[in-house]
Amino acid sequence: MASNVLPHPRVWFITGSSTGFGRALAEAVLTHGDRLVATARHPERLQDLVRSSPDRVQLLPLDVTNPPQSQDAAAQAVAHFGRIDVLVNNAGYGLLGAVEEATDAETRQELETNFFGVLHVTRAVLPFLRRQRSGHILMMASVDGFIGETGAGIYNASKFAIEGLSEALAQDVAPLGIHVTLIEPGYFRTDFTGRSLKEAARQIEDYAQTSGVAREQVRHINGKQPGDPKRAAQAMIHVVETAHPPLRLVLGADALSRVRHKLQQVKEEVDSWEATTVSTAFAATSTRSSG
Ligand SMILES: NC(=O)c1ccc[n+]([C@@H]2O[C@H](COP(=O)([O-])OP(=O)(O)OC[C@H]3O[C@@H](n4cnc5c(N)ncnc54)[C@H](OP(=O)(O)O)[C@@H]3O)[C@@H](O)[C@H]2O)c1
Repeated sequence: MASNVLPHPRVWFITGSSTGFGRALAEAVLTHGDRLVATARHPERLQDLVRSSPDRVQLLPLDVTNPPQSQDAAAQAVAHFGRIDVLVNNAGYGLLGAVEEATDAETRQELETNFFGVLHVTRAVLPFLRRQRSGHILMMASVDGFIGETGAGIYNASKFAIEGLSEALAQDVAPLGIHVTLIEPGYFRTDFTGRSLKEAARQIEDYAQTSGVAREQVRHINGKQPGDPKRAAQAMIHVVETAHPPLRLVLGADALSRVRHKLQQVKEEVDSWEATTVSTAFAATSTRSSG
C-alpha cells in the first residue's frame, strides 16, 4: 500500500513563530532536520533561528490579519523552498470577559485574528498544496474550541469557528491528498495567559461571580500551566509523520478530562431528550386513495 506520509525533509510554514507553541515548534522542526518558513509580525526577532540553520530557514513578515501579506508569504515560501508540506495556523490570542462585556470592536478583532487570519493564510497556501496533491494543515484550535466556558465566550466563538471550518475543510481536501488536524491544547506554559491575553475593558457587576471569577483564575494560572510547549511540538511532529493522522489531537491531561466530560454530558443530554427530538417530524400520513 502506498504511504501517505509526507516526504522528509519537509517544509513547515508556521504563523506566530515568535513565542510559545510557534517558537517551540520552529526549533523542534529544525532539530528534526526539516525546513522552516518562520513567519511573525516581527521576524527580525527570529534571527537566531537563521544563524543556527542558515540554509534551512526563511523568515517572513506576516500579520495574519493582512490578506495580501498572507498571499505574499505563501508565494515567497514556495519560491524559496519549492513547496510547503505543513502549514501550522498557530497565531492567535485570548480575550477574557463575559459575552456581554466584550465590545463589538474587541470581538471583531479577536475573530479577525483567530478566525479570519486562519482563513486568509489557509486560502493562500491551499493552491500550492492542491498542486502538489499533498500537505498537512495543523490548526491550532484549543480545548476552548470544543468546550465553552464563562469568561471565554468570544474566544470560544473564534475557536469553535475553527473547529467547524476544519471539519469541513478536511472533507474538501481529503481526495486531494491533504490532511487537516485540529490541535486542542489545554493550558500550556506560553505567553498566552501573559502578554498575549486581552481583557474586555468593560466589566459588569452582575457577572462578577461567573466571568469575573474566570478572569481572576486565568491570570492566576500564568506561569503554572501544566503543559510544556516543547513536548507539544514533538506531538505535532509525530502527528505529521503518521500515515493516518487524526482530525483532532487533544494535548494535555487537563484537556483530555474536560473533553471526555463534555462528550459524556452531551450524550446524556441528547439521550434524555430523545423523545422530544424525534417528535418533530410531520405526523405520518395515511396512504391516500387515488380516486
Ligand atoms: N498556551 C495555551 O494554553 C493555549 C491553549 C490552547 C490554545 N492555544 C493557542 O495557541 C496559539 C499560540 O499561542 P501560544 O500559547 O503559543 O501563545 P503566545 O506565546 O502568546 O504566542 C502567540 C503568537 O501569536 C502571534 N500573533 C498574535 N496575533 C498575531 C497576528 N495578528 N499575526 C501574526 N501573529 C500573531 C504572536 O505574535 P507577537 O509576538 O507578534 O505578539 C505570538 O507569536 C494561539 O492560537 C492560542 O489560541 C494556546
